Amino acid sequence: MRLAKGTPVVVASHNPGKVWEINQLIQPYGLDAVSAGDLNLDEPEETETTFEGNARLKAVAAAKGSGLPALADDSGLEVDCLDGAPGIYSARWAGPGKDFGLAMKKVADEITRRDGWKGAGPRANFISVLCLAWPNGEVKTFEGKVFGTLVWPARGGNGFGYDPMFVPEGDTRTFGEMDPKEKYAISHRTRAFAAFKAAMLDDIAPDAGQAKPEGRDIAAFAAAAASLSTRLEAAAFVGRLKEDFAAHRAEWKNATLEAYLAALERELSQVKNNDEPAWRQLAKAMLAASERS
Ligand code: IMP
Repeated sequence: MRLAKGTPVVVASHNPGKVWEINQLIQPYGLDAVSAGDLNLDEPEETETTFEGNARLKAVAAAKGSGLPALADDSGLEVDCLDGAPGIYSARWAGPGKDFGLAMKKVADEITRRDGWKGAGPRANFISVLCLAWPNGEVKTFEGKVFGTLVWPARGGNGFGYDPMFVPEGDTRTFGEMDPKEKYAISHRTRAFAAFKAAMLDDIAPDAGQAKPEGRDIAAFAAAAASLSTRLEAAAFVGRLKEDFAAHRAEWKNATLEAYLAALERELSQVKNNDEPAWRQLAKAMLAASERS
């Protein structure tokens, strides 16, 4: 079964960053993305032992729960000298606060322990498995990988997760130092999506020059804040907020420094999830202070 334009597709994730990324991929093809979070679908525990197994488990649960086709992805970083770790545990290495500064340090420390920094650096790859499940139980999976080496200390403030320590083959910059467009031209998720597109999309041509919102792109900011861990990512986030203020000042709720600082003080004093990395709490508060009066 293929997907036609206008088909509603559930994006089987509650992670706003991931939902945003998958939307970026499928919306140009006229697919109407709905998030599992918006449909109040439960998030199943990732109990399988492979990327494919976990992607399948999430997609099948969302398709059954919603009665709609559902798309899920499972992804991670595999390091050769760590026998493929952190692998399916890539998110879990970041702990309950999803702190990828800590997760990257853990990877670097493990590599040091195994004496893996010799020569050209430890080999690693990102992998993404996309799974499309239909309510009738039919399932298709697609895989994409990008190979490279790791560096330490981590570099760059773009991207998320393990991006600042991964240098793709043929480049000298980390994913964290690249423009997001350059990363997405070669990323594991883009490659998995290309396979998905070839097999599942009913000869749909992407909409030309697809719709960037005219005003503030709050969803993009929220997605960036939700997955941010390190100081450099926070610096890049503040840089984007600064550009946004210059371009869309009229839409900011607190457009004077005095009002903005008062709102920031209020937001920071009301932070709920203290497990999160402090840089992420700050970024979320900075965004909220620009949105809420
Ligand atoms: P998942 O939500 O179980 O698929 O978790 C995958 C984890 O792998 C994420 O939380 C990231 O830490 C990591 N990961 C996956 N894709 C990327 C990427 O493109 N860049 C950096 N880290 C990634």
